[in-house]
This record gives sequence, structure tokens and C-alpha cells, in this order.
Amino acid sequence: MLAYSGGLDTSVILKWLQTAYGAEVVTFTADLGQGEELGPARKKAEMLGIKPENIFIEDLREEFVRDYVYPMFRANALYEGVYLLGTSIARPLIGKRQIEIAEQVGADAVCHGATGKGNDQVRFELAYYANNPDIKVIAPWREWDLNSRTKLIEFAEQYQIPIAKDKRGEAPFSVDANLLHSSSEGKILEDPNVEPHVDVFQRTISPEAAPDKPTIIEIGFEKGDAVSLDGKPLTPAQMLTALNALGRDNGIGRVDLVENRFVGMKSRGIYETPGGTILYAAHRAIESITVDRGAMHLKDELMPKYAELVYYGFWFSPEREMLQVAIDKSQECVTGTVRLKLYKGNVIVIGRASPYSLYSQDLVTFEDDHGAYDQKDAAGFIRLQALRLRTLAMRKRKTGK
Ligand code: ARG
Ligand code: SIN
Repeated sequence: MLAYSGGLDTSVILKWLQTAYGAEVVTFTADLGQGEELGPARKKAEMLGIKPENIFIEDLREEFVRDYVYPMFRANALYEGVYLLGTSIARPLIGKRQIEIAEQVGADAVCHGATGKGNDQVRFELAYYANNPDIKVIAPWREWDLNSRTKLIEFAEQYQIPIAKDKRGEAPFSVDANLLHSSSEGKILEDPNVEPHVDVFQRTISPEAAPDKPTIIEIGFEKGDAVSLDGKPLTPAQMLTALNALGRDNGIGRVDLVENRFVGMKSRGIYETPGGTILYAAHRAIESITVDRGAMHLKDELMPKYAELVYYGFWFSPEREMLQVAIDKSQECVTGTVRLKLYKGNVIVIGRASPYSLYSQDLVTFEDDHGAYDQKDAAGFIRLQALRLRTLAMRKRKTGK
């Protein structure tokens, strides 16, 4: 029961399972909005000798965005300050669905195409075990002797597995894509000091090439989730699709980063998250007027922990679920609209409104507030806040320490 993308790596794995294990392989290809036709994945599986009844192809886009991406965006999750977790969040869903299909067809093992060096092996397998404690896992990258991409390509050539070339006629980068992002790793990108060639980018134009005219949009939120665009209701997957198009056309969401993998090494990646970058900014903006300071600050403290859990693959864990309950509670009044200007790689918030707004112009105004706030109250407030600092300053004056 193989998680099969139809790409080079998993096609080689498919052939290897047949030759090394003599296995009857069942393939599962999830449409998570990677933007590729799924027809070719079916054709390729058939060409590699998989029986039609053993080819599972499912459109999981709505489930992916509704039950994984949206809950994560309620948390404003960012790993190490920059990564919107586009790959990390997809693995639990693929793993869970793979286990369900494996049980349905009576498969005795599940298999994935992640290497033994990365995060994805952990994420897939934690998802497998959380959904079936006894499942047998096959991770070819940790077993076979094709221990480099070069050897992988040689194996592919030997078995006439088609290798999609990039625009320059070279073997492709290691790519992962879904509705939330695409990531490219490997080859020349392994040198973190080399700027990526334009060919690396898949779903955004460059900020320099973006129009000189800004695009203004309005996103409507309900309980922390984006539900409408320019007044038009959209499902979660429709929303992300629409925001991806807007982000692409305005050069939004490119990130070039070096991150710390769970297994211990640092790795460099080029990520494009156009819609997610817009959604992140918009969500923070609607929260800014609807969430209380104490709740917001606690949420911001919990966020790195939440992001780390998603990155490490602990989606199906009690601690992630506990945090989710707290985060969801904070979103009860995160309802309203945010207006944004998209311009040459930037997402600029230009307005926010909510029936549950905590923002009070009466309180904050620099003009006459007609008694809404007594400035004299601030004097005692500051004196008490300063008590410790004054005590310390007096000691320093006396002792020098
Ligand atoms: N480093 C990213 C993560 O761990 C992406 C991994 C998959 N991407 C890839 N190009 N192979 O979430
Ligand atoms: C892989 O190792 O298969 C991709 C990179 C990662 O999982 O971190």
C-alpha cells in the first residue's frame, strides 16, 4: 500500500517493491491540490503493472484545507519564524487515509517515498502508527542501496521509468506540492549561499515582474476561518485556490530558508506559499481587533510549540489536540472583514472591521474622549509598575550592584 505521487521517486519505489519484495502493490494518490493532473499518475501506475482495482486516487482538497490547513492557520503557525508548514501539514492526512485504504484492501504493509534523512518519514510513520498501532512500515530509502538521487535516476533509466526533466533539461529538484505550498530542495540549492535560479519557482511570478498597480481584496472571516472573498462565499479549498492565484500574480509568498530538521541537520529550501501568506496576514489582522490582549499573548506563546508539533509530525497527538482546543476557543469572536493591498510581493493590511471588535476609538483617541478614560489613573498604574525597578535602582545606588 504505497503513497504514490506519480513522480520519479515513488515510481522507482513501486518498481522496487515489485522486484525486491515481489509485492502486489496498491497505490494511493491523493489530490491535495498539487496542481498536476492525476490522469498521468493512473497511467503511470498501470504502465508499471498495477491492476486498475489496486489504484486509488482521491480528491482530498476540501478535507485537507478544512480539517488541517484552517485549524493550523487559526494558530498562526510558523516554524522557526518563517515556514508556513506547507509540507508538514499534508503528511498526517495522507498517512491517515493510507491506513484506512490499507485496512479496506487488507494490505499487510504501508510504504512511503520519504528519505531516511528527512522529516517526512517521521510524519508519515507517526500518522500510520497513531491510526494503526500494529501496521508494518516499509521505507525503501532506508533499505535499498540506491543511496543517492543519481543512483535513483540510473534505476529509473534501467526500468524505463520516465524522468520528467526541468526546463533546462535536467533532472528535477526534490519537490513537494499541495494547495498550500510548493517546496524545492536538493541539487544546487544544497549550497545555502547560492541564489535560486528563476526556474526553481513554480507558482509565483517574481515581485519584480508583478504589476505596478496594487490589487485590493477583502476577506471575510467567521470564527477564525476565511469564508468569503470580496463578499463571495467560498469553501476552504476554493478560498486557498483563489488566494493562490492572487498571490501568484502579485509575486507573494516566496521564502528562501535554512531550517532545522527534526532528525538534527539543517536543510535549505525554497518555498512558495502565495495564498497562505495572504491568509496569514489577514487572519492576524482580524484577530488584532477581536481577540483580547491576554488571550492573544498566550496564543502567541503557544504558537511555536504548536508549529513544532506540526513540523515534527505529532498532528495526531494529545498535546496538539489540547492546544487546538485552546486556540479554537480563542477564535469565537474572530469574525469580520479584512481589506488588503497586494503589491509586488507585499501583503499590506489597509482595513479591518468586526461586529465583535474590541477596538474603541473613544478610548484610544488623541482628541477629546469626553471622559472615556481618565489620564490621571495612569500615574498610579505606572508608579506601582515601577516599584520593583525603583527598589533595584536604590540598591544599585547604595551597593553598585
Ligand atoms: N523541508 C520541508 C519540510 O520538512 C519540505 C520537505 C519536503 N519537500 C521536498 N522538496 N522534498 O516540511
Ligand atoms: C525527504 O527526506 O524525503 C524530504 C525532506 C524531508 O522530509 O525533510
